[in-house]
Amino acid sequence: MKNKTKSLPDFKKLTWEEFYKKPLDKKLNSFTENGHLFDSLFSQQFNRKLLDHLFTLATRIRTIAKNKEGLDWLQTLLSHKRAMLYFIQPSTRTFLSFQSACYILGMNVSEIRSTSTSSELKGESPEDTVRTFSSYTDLIVMRHFEEGFAEKTAWLLNRTKRPIPVINGGSGKDQHPTQALLDLYTLNWAFNDKGGIDNKKIVMAGDLKRGRTVRSLTYLLRNYKNVEFVFVAPDYLRMSDDIKQFLKRHKTKFSETDNLIKSIKDVDAIYMTRIQDEYDINNESKDIDYSKFHLTKDSLKLMRKNTIILHPLPRRAEIDPAVDDDPRAMYWRQERNGMWIRTALIAHIFGVDNSIMKR
Ligand code: CP
Repeated sequence: MKNKTKSLPDFKKLTWEEFYKKPLDKKLNSFTENGHLFDSLFSQQFNRKLLDHLFTLATRIRTIAKNKEGLDWLQTLLSHKRAMLYFIQPSTRTFLSFQSACYILGMNVSEIRSTSTSSELKGESPEDTVRTFSSYTDLIVMRHFEEGFAEKTAWLLNRTKRPIPVINGGSGKDQHPTQALLDLYTLNWAFNDKGGIDNKKIVMAGDLKRGRTVRSLTYLLRNYKNVEFVFVAPDYLRMSDDIKQFLKRHKTKFSETDNLIKSIKDVDAIYMTRIQDEYDINNESKDIDYSKFHLTKDSLKLMRKNTIILHPLPRRAEIDPAVDDDPRAMYWRQERNGMWIRTALIAHIFGVDNSIMKR
């Protein structure tokens, strides 16, 4: 990567407040370098060509990493780079899969998982904290409770003399773009011999109002033709208006219901989610009967033989563990796919994807 600051004169003139208010499509270029993805913050940054490339790359990495010789070779590619994993919201699989992705490419990894162990406890601002990471590392992967903070980090660092890429590993209730990448990679794999993702009908069920994964996945699915959505949620947790407006603008068919049993009978994929009660303001989740949004062994009898079941995990009771052994349950494969697609994303950002594809 070349020095990025020279190519962003307009970007540098704006205050953060001015920049944040700009429509997304007017500022996405600010997170690229000569048209190449630099910061990975939003699902809207990915077009079909880039998605197809990342899927091919992820599968290639997975094949190369199968034996010691291949993995040793992959580990030479970015052995001169260091990554910072700044995860101050809880995470198991996003954190571990990014850590593993860095190891696969030979990167050294540092981590902060709580502000109680950083100098933020001494009063350092979050902005100074992330700027400090760029003094020592070459990549920041972050999960933050504040919507927009990953974007602010990228905005801030891109104005400095040492801009480094920022990857959003989950930003409050807003987005989780790399989760959407692994969801889509899994859908693409599952529908490989069924005409791909085009023309598929997808149920998204659960807490759609506060689930960042369903938001990011809906944005990404815009890259495919005639995808139809069925949003299944308790009344209080229905999909938010901005996403429904987005689908209307793009003439994408969707319907809404609170009846899971009826909705799963004739669809291609069911994407389950847990109730996100960490975002409750007054314990409002307690009053919601979420049991109607659970998938059980009995539900399997109502589904088609080729309908696949996805879940970003972690789960609670919304998928009975008895469902795990059914061949339609894809969520453990989906989880592992996160490691491969995140490795592909980092390889792409650092421009080592061509070497991988040529090997
Ligand atoms: N799907 C997901 O983001 O899981 P974690 O919270 O465990 O990272």
